Amino acid sequence: MTMLKAIKNWIEVRIGLDELVRDQLTEYRIPRNINLFYSLGTVAIAAFSIQVLTGIVLLVYYVPHPDHAFKSVQGIMMDVPYGWLFRQVHAVGSNLLVIVVALHMLSVFFMKSYAKPREMTWLVGFAMLLLTLTFCLSGYLLPWSQLSYWATTIVTNMPTAFPYIGDYLTEFQRGSSQVSGATLGRFFALHVMLLPALLVMLLGIHLFLIRRIGISRPPFGPGGQERVEWTQFHHESYPDGMPFYPHYIAKEVFMIMVYLSAMFFIIAFLPTLFSPADANIPADPFKTPAHIKPEWYFLAPYQMLRVIPSKFLGITLQMIAITVLFFWPFLDRKEERNILKRPVLLGGFIGALLVWIGLTIWGNF
Ligand code: HEM
Repeated sequence: MTMLKAIKNWIEVRIGLDELVRDQLTEYRIPRNINLFYSLGTVAIAAFSIQVLTGIVLLVYYVPHPDHAFKSVQGIMMDVPYGWLFRQVHAVGSNLLVIVVALHMLSVFFMKSYAKPREMTWLVGFAMLLLTLTFCLSGYLLPWSQLSYWATTIVTNMPTAFPYIGDYLTEFQRGSSQVSGATLGRFFALHVMLLPALLVMLLGIHLFLIRRIGISRPPFGPGGQERVEWTQFHHESYPDGMPFYPHYIAKEVFMIMVYLSAMFFIIAFLPTLFSPADANIPADPFKTPAHIKPEWYFLAPYQMLRVIPSKFLGITLQMIAITVLFFWPFLDRKEERNILKRPVLLGGFIGALLVWIGLTIWGNF
């Protein structure tokens, strides 16, 4: 017996590796009418993993102090071998991660994959979306540039719209009345410790639920209209479905390649897409740039607060929208899973998307 076989046998005896591979990979089957949108969750995992790996490399050289942060990032770009590449992959990747997670959520919404018994999967996913945004917010400040300083000032100022507790919330986030070294310290701790731990934990629960319940059958295409009565728990399986390995895995790898191509295209040909000129100037709390605005994914709520005359009304509407979306699986009581057969919901879905895109474009000016 070769060494490798001996090791495999050692593991096999202890955890039943062959059975695990059979159940989870080679004999695992998924609905035949599954579409490419179902791979967005896996692309999000790949994107998140890239953020973790590149983040660890950046952490070796980054200094979380207002006097050194900007210089340490410049050092990573100029002096560290391939430092510029790791930083660009991390910075561009953070923006693409937001896009992928948002698209995954939209696709889950469109397929109504949140319906019973997958409400918990939705709730955990939604929490992960909020964590992803907090990840980006906290990371944005770390380079301590004019861009990061003032964008953070705007976003952390948004809670002041709440009466009574607003000012306290803003100060709590910042650790002082202004964005300062105290803010950098707590954002750094959030970004490299608390958020990764929380996100990995929630991801574990998300994946457990997906595998335990079984993937949902898309409501479109052959077999899409089949209904299952959920009166007691059972694993939703598809004995005559498409093999997960290698058929579906090949599609997921293809989508990850598309993701990587988009990322390297931006790094090579549009390197300043997500980093305007202010990103190259060190933070100066006494010099407000002419056009300050938050990161693009916060532009819609920011613009909404600017447009609605009452700040309180604006923030209340946003809170209601977030709460409705969070509890959506419990609010949508209709049996029909095909959104194309629900014109009111489809209209609302497209309308909300257009309003979001419109506010984002408007907020740019
Ligand atoms: C970092 C963020 C996220 C990661 C890494 C992730 C990962 C995944 C993966 C790998 C799947 C299985 C395949 C698929 O359907 O794509 C999945 C399914 C699912 N996700 Fe997420 N997800 C994330 C965020 C979200 C969000 C924001 C929501 C919704 C609010 C959500 C709700 C769901 C639901 C309901 C399913 C079950 C789909 C089904 O059974 O058909 N996820 N997720």
